[in-house]
Amino acid sequence: MSRKVSRVCLAYSGGLDTSVILHWLLDRYDCEVVAYTADVGQEEELSGLPQKAKETGAIDCIVRDLREEFVRDFVFPAIQGCAIYEGTYLLGTALARPLIAKHHAEVARETGCDAVSHGATGKGNDQVRFELTFRALAPELEIIAPWREWDLRSRSDCIAYAQKYAIPITATLKKPYSIDRNLMHVSFEGGILEDPWRAPEEEMFILTQSPEAAPDTPSEIVIGFECGAPVSIDGERLSPADLLHRLNQLAGSHGVGRVDMVENRFVGLKSRGVYETPGGCVLHAAHRAVESITLDREVMHERDRLSPRFAELIYNGFWYSPEMEFMRAAIDSSQRNVTGEARVKLFKGSVQVMGRRSPVSLYSESLSSFEEDGGYDQADAGGFIRLQGLRLAKPAGD
Ligand code: ARG
Repeated sequence: MSRKVSRVCLAYSGGLDTSVILHWLLDRYDCEVVAYTADVGQEEELSGLPQKAKETGAIDCIVRDLREEFVRDFVFPAIQGCAIYEGTYLLGTALARPLIAKHHAEVARETGCDAVSHGATGKGNDQVRFELTFRALAPELEIIAPWREWDLRSRSDCIAYAQKYAIPITATLKKPYSIDRNLMHVSFEGGILEDPWRAPEEEMFILTQSPEAAPDTPSEIVIGFECGAPVSIDGERLSPADLLHRLNQLAGSHGVGRVDMVENRFVGLKSRGVYETPGGCVLHAAHRAVESITLDREVMHERDRLSPRFAELIYNGFWYSPEMEFMRAAIDSSQRNVTGEARVKLFKGSVQVMGRRSPVSLYSESLSSFEEDGGYDQADAGGFIRLQGLRLAKPAGD
């Protein structure tokens, strides 16, 4: 390997893989390593991390709490743009990656690193998302992806490596699948989930109760939105992270938000994924309910045409790209009038909209009413349909 690097910033979780990577970097590149950890709501104990990183050989370990930024600047814009990949995946992992990488690059620069390194494997989407973000925001940094470079092939190779070099690892029971968790969701894939016919075991789920075991009494909640962004639950204003956290608990207890799918990865593979996105699922439904009374028809339809492409850009890792800037500007502008409340019922795995209201509603009871005329002249509809139908009538004799 010809690359010369002197200080590497490593995305570090304290788990087996990144502990091994930390040691491997020191050994392979004869460099210094700064560890960096992002808190995006994965609910792992972060307090002991700096000490652990230093014991493994890092010169420093920087932990950043990104929870509010994650929900405010990534999750909420995805809700506003109705970003749902392949009609099913709410993009929990894909949304966190550019944020984690943005701060990774920042920390690298601030600590005088000339390279960044991550523990994503060579088969997944995450390597693409991290590295496209590095390219966009800090193109001068070298990128080291050990899983594409070293000859370790499996978890047992990593354990053997850790033992050989006496790397401190906490023996955690290996889950029979891979998990990625943040404030938006928990994702499960790989291992025993690779058979797409095999249903996941109930014990696997973390954020959601099974719909069958969920309470027999529904809960009704009111979610408030301002310019398309969620701001309150039952009238109580909450910060973005608190709001999503609260919704995850409420909706999760009712079994809302489980998804099981086979998706197309950007790198060209199909992959089976199971997701729990309780709060996100409620937010998508509530947001659309508020939009239904506050968005102009044509604006809504234009935004809806952008949504699948918006989801694809997020999924493929192009958060920081010119086309995303263009798309975000269009979506932001569509949301200016999306202010109001949605009343939703959570019950045994379902989220049902029960009502919607808005101080800036475009809905007119008198116009749509069957009882009154209110400015809409039914006689006009006859001409409207005649003109629409002109070109549909087959010429006589055909
Ligand atoms: N398939 C999902 C995605 O590409 C989830 C990926 C989860 N990542 C992980 N390293 N376990 O967004």
